[in-house]
Amino acid sequence: MLLDIVTYPAPLLAISSEPVCEITGEIRALAADMFETMYASRGVGLAAPQVGRPLRILVMDAGQKDKQPAPRVFVNPVLVLLGDEIVSEQEGCLSVPLNYRADVLRSSSVFLRARDLDGNDIAQELSGFSAIVLQHEADHLDGLLFIDHISRLRRTLYDSKVKKWLTSKNDA
Ligand code: NI
Repeated sequence: MLLDIVTYPAPLLAISSEPVCEITGEIRALAADMFETMYASRGVGLAAPQVGRPLRILVMDAGQKDKQPAPRVFVNPVLVLLGDEIVSEQEGCLSVPLNYRADVLRSSSVFLRARDLDGNDIAQELSGFSAIVLQHEADHLDGLLFIDHISRLRRTLYDSKVKKWLTSKNDA
């Protein structure tokens, strides 16, 4: 089932999500719907708060970029940032309107602890594009968007564009 994607400046995107206590059928169904929604929107990752569920679960498929599907689900992910600081070029987000993109500083690799949908422990290091997608999606679980990482000037300019857009939408 396709889910509606919550967009900035919705307050839900700015709160810290709750841990998933038990991996129920409902959680598995949520993950399946999140994949369907992500692929339909041509995204490479989606976090539960983006579909209105403030839970610590994310789906991603960093292989989509190279047409090599690699779907992953991470429940209650915990990241340790490793490696060098790198520029993630022209990052975007399904929850950030007007197709806005900006360069963001990220870590080149991360150590991830999480659970999969079968409740198995995951402990692995990710690097490259996967590491960047994971950092972006995990940020959502802490109420952060990539626009929280850009300069204050860029953010102010973007916020004024969004405000104008919302005003014109409401007038129409
Ligand atoms: Ni996003």
